[in-house]
Amino acid sequence: MKGLILSGGKGTRLRPITYTGAKQLIPVANRPILFYVLDNLIHAGIKEIGIIISPETGKEIKEAVGDENRWGVGIRYILQKQPAGLAHAVKTARNFLKKEPFVMYLGDNLIGARIGGLIETFYKDRADALILLKQVENPTQFGVAEIGRYGRVKRLIEKPKKPPSNLALVGVYVFSHYIHDAINKISPSWRGELEITDAIQRLIEMKRRVTSHILDEWWLDTGKKDDLLAANTLVLDEWIKRDVKGSVDQESRVMGRVVIGNGSRVIRSTIRGPVVIGEGCQIEDSFVGPFTSIGNKATVLNSVIEHSVLLEGAEVILIDRLEDSLIGRNARVQRYNKYRAFRLVIGDDSSIEI
Ligand code: G1P
Repeated sequence: MKGLILSGGKGTRLRPITYTGAKQLIPVANRPILFYVLDNLIHAGIKEIGIIISPETGKEIKEAVGDENRWGVGIRYILQKQPAGLAHAVKTARNFLKKEPFVMYLGDNLIGARIGGLIETFYKDRADALILLKQVENPTQFGVAEIGRYGRVKRLIEKPKKPPSNLALVGVYVFSHYIHDAINKISPSWRGELEITDAIQRLIEMKRRVTSHILDEWWLDTGKKDDLLAANTLVLDEWIKRDVKGSVDQESRVMGRVVIGNGSRVIRSTIRGPVVIGEGCQIEDSFVGPFTSIGNKATVLNSVIEHSVLLEGAEVILIDRLEDSLIGRNARVQRYNKYRAFRLVIGDDSSIEI
């Protein structure tokens, strides 16, 4: 069983954060989403992983992920020159995949479950495709499945106007090599992409065995700000253990499950977990409340922050209360006492609520 992670694209849905970076590298609890994907595949015993990259963000992905020495499994980067769809990505990886079965995992999907059991079910059912499904409120935004008895998949349809169910396709799939035959038989969809959903539908029509598993745990397709904050909250809530490496002075209090990285300094402040603070940060005269992640080299002075994500090098200064916020790399939010006016330099596609 091989692993294929799709980590291409331009990430337009999380603009402006993704103008300067790949969406798969956006951190949740200070770790790129892509690293959780790699963890999950490696934990399931997969030894060879292909990562599909795009010309736009490929270099950045490679630098962040590194090579096999870091992960202890084979890592191969595969360039997909155009964003021509998920099934096109599989086609591009054909030489890497050969005739082996594989797990395909979208690099911006985060799930609260291990995938080992899914692989076992795939083998036990002698399936040609095993898809993961989750009930959602907005099925029109996803691939949607119509399910028969024993989890047999009757029909799949990509972003339907009239969804046949509320079961969305989660971005984790297990395939046998027959998927390649199915991909060769499909044509581009209305959005000009070769859809993996259409290829799986074709497998059904080819009378191949397509089964499904409904995910009980949480799933976050971290496309948007609120999804990202929700993912951050869930990961902090479930996976964080206390680990204070940085310095905390006598006048500060650090309560609950809090991670503070090397070289960070907490001065006259209160940190109430779950919170992750990266390396080389400065937190002074502030309160950092539950469900907040603060990236490396960030600064928080005289401020109160809750339920927010600050990326690397961000600065929050003299802000009475910042909540439900996502602050980009090296961005600064500062109040000037003297002036009542707002003075802003805001990037394209930004959103400010005052
Ligand atoms: C893709 C798939 C869709 C699936 C979704 C999960 O959508 O085409 O079937 O439900 O990922 O994240 P896209 O992100 O390309 O819109």
